[in-house]
Amino acid sequence: MAQAKHISDPQGKKMSCSKAGGSPPPSVEQDQSSNEMDIKNICFVGAGHVGAPSATVLAFFNPALHINVVDISEALVRRWNSNSRHLPLNDEQGLCDLVRVTRDGTLPTLLWTDDDGAMERPGRKPNLVFSNDVKGGVREADMVFLCVETPTRSEGEGAGMAADTGSLEKAVKDVARWAKEGVIVVLKSTVPVGMARRVREMISMIRPTLSFEVLSNPEFLAEGEAVRNLLEPDRVLIGLSMTSTGHAAALALADIYTTWIDQEKIQKISNTSAELAKLTANAMLAQRISSINTISAICERTGAEIAEVQTALGSDNRIGAHFLQAGIGFGGSCFQKDVLNLVHLATSLDLRDAGDYWLQVLQINRFQTRNFVQRVISRLDGSLADKKVAIFGWTFKKGTSDARETRSFHVVKELLKEPVKEITIFDPGCDLADIRAAIRSPGGLESGKSECPNSNVTVHDNPYSACQEADAVLILTDWEQFRCLPDPERPSVANPKDHGVGAASSPASYISLGHTASSGVRSIISKLSIRDSPEQNDRSNAFTNPLGHLKPELPCPADCRDCNNKTSLPMSADVQVDWKRVSTKVKSPGWVFDGRNMVNVGEMQKLGFRVEAIGKASVWESDAY
Ligand SMILES: NC(=O)c1ccc[n+]([C@@H]2O[C@H](COP(=O)([O-])OP(=O)(O)OC[C@H]3O[C@@H](n4cnc5c(N)ncnc54)[C@H](O)[C@@H]3O)[C@@H](O)[C@H]2O)c1
Repeated sequence: MAQAKHISDPQGKKMSCSKAGGSPPPSVEQDQSSNEMDIKNICFVGAGHVGAPSATVLAFFNPALHINVVDISEALVRRWNSNSRHLPLNDEQGLCDLVRVTRDGTLPTLLWTDDDGAMERPGRKPNLVFSNDVKGGVREADMVFLCVETPTRSEGEGAGMAADTGSLEKAVKDVARWAKEGVIVVLKSTVPVGMARRVREMISMIRPTLSFEVLSNPEFLAEGEAVRNLLEPDRVLIGLSMTSTGHAAALALADIYTTWIDQEKIQKISNTSAELAKLTANAMLAQRISSINTISAICERTGAEIAEVQTALGSDNRIGAHFLQAGIGFGGSCFQKDVLNLVHLATSLDLRDAGDYWLQVLQINRFQTRNFVQRVISRLDGSLADKKVAIFGWTFKKGTSDARETRSFHVVKELLKEPVKEITIFDPGCDLADIRAAIRSPGGLESGKSECPNSNVTVHDNPYSACQEADAVLILTDWEQFRCLPDPERPSVANPKDHGVGAASSPASYISLGHTASSGVRSIISKLSIRDSPEQNDRSNAFTNPLGHLKPELPCPADCRDCNNKTSLPMSADVQVDWKRVSTKVKSPGWVFDGRNMVNVGEMQKLGFRVEAIGKASVWESDAY
């Protein structure tokens, strides 16, 4: 057990820390007297989807702290240090401005006083640095957040199930080698249960004399909403070891969060509980999607409508409406791996039934994709021979360029099992080069197809060339750009069968892109304006432009590598697909298979399409119920 002790930090302030081992364990409810840990310098290891936004928001709200974000990827760090045109994750609303404020600092601004005079508010100093200097970042830090990837293990024991903690262990070794006395190690990555204990053991083994603490602080942000989730989290979990030094470390971390998050939202629990809560949160969200997807399959065979069932279920407070949208299944880098991680944990604890229960969530996800593809094949006369299929949507969900574990990949893979003539792919938010790389990567769509060097899968920068002469359009991502909005001028068309297909597929079909985007931004901006213009009497244009004192950016140098490696995002993010135009391109009878319930079936019919939607019985099938 650890022996609590006091040492002096370089600034001569008192810090309380422990050696692995520890003092008598107080209970988790017991709040420790005072936070003696003086945190001045923080290092985030990993500048990816979690590390960089988390570091940026933390830096924004804690201007007195110096934050280093370190990553082993030179290309990624170069982009984080670049002109805002090349910043990674620039689809995350608000992130670019926050990076500019914290990384570059701001200019002084004029504030209006009560008597209509003006006073100057000083600019802000930069406090966020991106670099590849892992050693330097860790060495200076009082607190190190580990935010590296933990994918499913592809080889060795537990392959296909357990989390690959290789990158994390490498980062932990770096901490053990270079960290300063009293360092607090914060696990932000999603980790297997028991990892905090293992990290503790690893560090003590490598550097037995080091005093340190390990906290679990799993992240719950969703890609595409990272800034909003970080600004307004439902809760912050801080897992700690039940020692006095563990409590002091947790208090130090909580103090940082309470600069912008209410104290009541911070839950201090044990390390193991925090680790398990994170895995379970993702598993339960995935489970809800699989649950509703099984019901959507039943709807397709009974004539019940999934949109109506969803509304009925979602309005029950005990159930709630979140994660109840039927579709072709969940994707993304987290859900599958975290469910697998839970299955692995349960089976390794000899709880086979519990493991099987969670495994079924993944089986349903695969079933749903196959079911969708089978429906496509069956409507196209039972064969894809000589058929062209256009895919609309490659990312795993709207609002992100991330296509890790996207269901679109699996749909295309299923389609390729058939003698399909051509598959085209269009996505409004994913770099064309990234889609091409995913298709051609080892294990990608074309692996094992060496006999077919001329690929029949092509990537397009607009929906109209993608669907030219297509036999079917498949909507696979819930991009708002894919919605077909009602046109009051268009005459209605009689339904081929009375299944109510002429009605909107769901009230959500009418949510416009502008509405959803602006409410998100408003929420972010109002938060930022409070923080960035704290003076009550600030009459500057804080609401419309709270970051108006951003420093002007320098243009990219002539030899800018990122300009030369131009990312090729297709059409502008707020341009809707013109379905009328699509209707002139596709082959008759204009099949559209809506895997995300994005289009208004009635409106599409007026344009001459035949729509098959998830969770809705077919009106075109001769033997439909
Ligand atoms: N992506 C999400 O939406 C999300 C949400 C919540 C939690 N998480 C969890 O957070 C963790 C990180 O996920 P992510 O999506 O940010 O991953 P990511 O792949 O986007 O980023 C990880 C970064 O860590 C860097 N890295 C790896 N090893 C390193 C090392 N030893 N030193 C320095 N840098 C190193 C990589 O180069 C990469 O840039 C994972 O455990 C994930 O499960 C992710």
